[in-house]
Amino acid sequence: MTKPVLIAPSILAADFSKIGQEVTDVIAAGADWVHLDVMDGHFVPNISFGPVIIEKLRPLTDAVFDTHLMIAPCDPYLEAFAKAGSDFITIHAEAGPHMHRSLQAIKSLGKKAGIAINPGTPVSALEHVVDMVDLILVMSVNPGFGGQKYIMEAGKKVAQVAALIGDRPIHIEVDGGITPETAPLVTNAGANVLVAGSAIYDGKGRESYARNISAIKAAL
Ligand code: DX5
Ligand code: ZN
Repeated sequence: MTKPVLIAPSILAADFSKIGQEVTDVIAAGADWVHLDVMDGHFVPNISFGPVIIEKLRPLTDAVFDTHLMIAPCDPYLEAFAKAGSDFITIHAEAGPHMHRSLQAIKSLGKKAGIAINPGTPVSALEHVVDMVDLILVMSVNPGFGGQKYIMEAGKKVAQVAALIGDRPIHIEVDGGITPETAPLVTNAGANVLVAGSAIYDGKGRESYARNISAIKAAL
């Protein structure tokens, strides 16, 4: 695995009363991407935020906006998330019967396309879309909430994804329960983008976020 490991803090764990500051602080602290968790209270049992928030955050940084859509259906909203300034738009394989069509739609909007799989979904579900995607997201918790415990099986799935993609230039991202303890389990298996919410956003501001990001990187 030669790709550098990128850190993508999830703003779900940030203080939403000062969300702009939280985003600029985490980028100043050394984050690579901003991970934006969109939840609809239907596909997942929680509601977060929509494209308006992403649009307002967009002018604050040039960092890659990594939008993780935990919504079903997703198709009616892809254009709004593209226009809001997402760089990557990741949909869930389980979010509907037409993941191929949804990925085509994301590409036609000029965005990088990602596909996510829940802990109970096999990697084989991605076999026929692997040539369409820029990113594969392996969920290491059941989506819906931050602060959950990492599911050990994820490392095995990352290795299967790495074998599936071969030398294609596809990012392998892992999301859920990533800490300095669990991060090496997935990077050793081939993951190169680590989402972390509660392990980075501890409410203590920029210096603390920098220490938290360094601790994850140092553990790899
Ligand atoms: C879960 C979200 C994650 C979550 C990660 O549904 O997709 O991005 O915020 O939070 P932690 O790192 O606290 O598990
Ligand atoms: Zn996420």
